[in-house]
Amino acid sequence: MLKRRTRLAVITALWIGVSLAARGTEEAPAIPLPEDYRGWFHVKSGMIDPGHKAYARFGGLHHIYANPLALTGYGAGSFPDGSVLVFDLLELRTGEDHTTSEGPRRHIDVMVKDKQRYKDTGGWGFEEFLPGSGKGTLSPAAARACHSCHITRKDHDGVFSTIRP
Ligand code: HEC
Repeated sequence: MLKRRTRLAVITALWIGVSLAARGTEEAPAIPLPEDYRGWFHVKSGMIDPGHKAYARFGGLHHIYANPLALTGYGAGSFPDGSVLVFDLLELRTGEDHTTSEGPRRHIDVMVKDKQRYKDTGGWGFEEFLPGSGKGTLSPAAARACHSCHITRKDHDGVFSTIRP
């Protein structure tokens, strides 16, 4: 029979062991919403107008931003781990004074490069955020659907946009 104090020490050690093991099997952390992306390099802006087949999903005005690592990828044609790209989609507001400006945000799409973690989707993790929420909305199947279109730009590491002079 173990002494009370020894028993307590054994139980504590087991508990610590179990908690550490549980932490080790936790799912990898989700893709975070990049807070300061509007201060990153602005790659380009574009519009998808009514009549385009992707209008329902991606219609409106979009801006694309690259973090410093992703910026090196545009030059090299292949993006290093840690690259983050943002597709910021907004509605358009037409003013009575013949102006057009950004309206409410529709959603924010994010691509994060990590060759190991996202090896099933070309090394890119895909996520989507609704306005005002820092929590991603994509199921694994939806993320694969993003990839199935982006992979058509295999010659440019799955990235459609380019930086023009
Ligand atoms: C049917 C094709 C298609 C699907 C599906 C698609 N995208 Fe894209 N995506 C594009 C195109 C085309 C561009 C470039 C737009 C431009 O150049 O203005 C783009 C641009 C982007 C960019 C900026 C980097 C780049 O490739 O230029 C991100 C980030 C992005 N998409 C994320 C997503 C996410 C997340 C999903 C899934 C929710 C998704 N995309 C689904 C076609 C697609």
